[in-house]
Amino acid sequence: RGVGGPGRLRHRRPSLTMRMVVASDHAAVELRQEMAAVAVELGHEVTDLGPAPGEAVDYPVNGARVGRLVAAGEYDLGLIACGTGIGIGISANKVPGIRAAICSDAYSAKMSRAHNDANVLALGARVVGTGLARLIVETWLTTEFEGGRHARRVGLIAELDAAAGRQL
Ligand code: RB5
Repeated sequence: RGVGGPGRLRHRRPSLTMRMVVASDHAAVELRQEMAAVAVELGHEVTDLGPAPGEAVDYPVNGARVGRLVAAGEYDLGLIACGTGIGIGISANKVPGIRAAICSDAYSAKMSRAHNDANVLALGARVVGTGLARLIVETWLTTEFEGGRHARRVGLIAELDAAAGRQL
């Protein structure tokens, strides 16, 4: 498969097709569309929550929307973006069960999947260019969680989620 054209990925379709949900704020519409395109090129199913070009959306709204959908199991992974990736990433991380990695390099993206089992990737449109963003998304989507000793640590993160939600 492969969409063709310069810069397009020509990977074989991975055996596992994941359900991806994608959203941004108004500062990262083009980046979000590029992130979605990489996911489609890798053979995944993508739902794009917007916004449309010219439509203003506060990043906490779409960070939380993606976080809730992934945490609920309606999607396997989320891809989000704002100007820096930070605001929307922080917002997604407020949802229990979400481990959003705010990345601007491929190594961090890889390790966020391998060691942290990150389930949301946040990028900044004012931080990374198109080529680097594509590489980060490709790396993130093709790296699997290693489990093992890392599973216990991710379990501890889940305990933090549970503790934060505990009522007095
Ligand atoms: C919007 O101008 C900008 O603040 C937002 O996209 C993001 O960078 C916040 O973290």
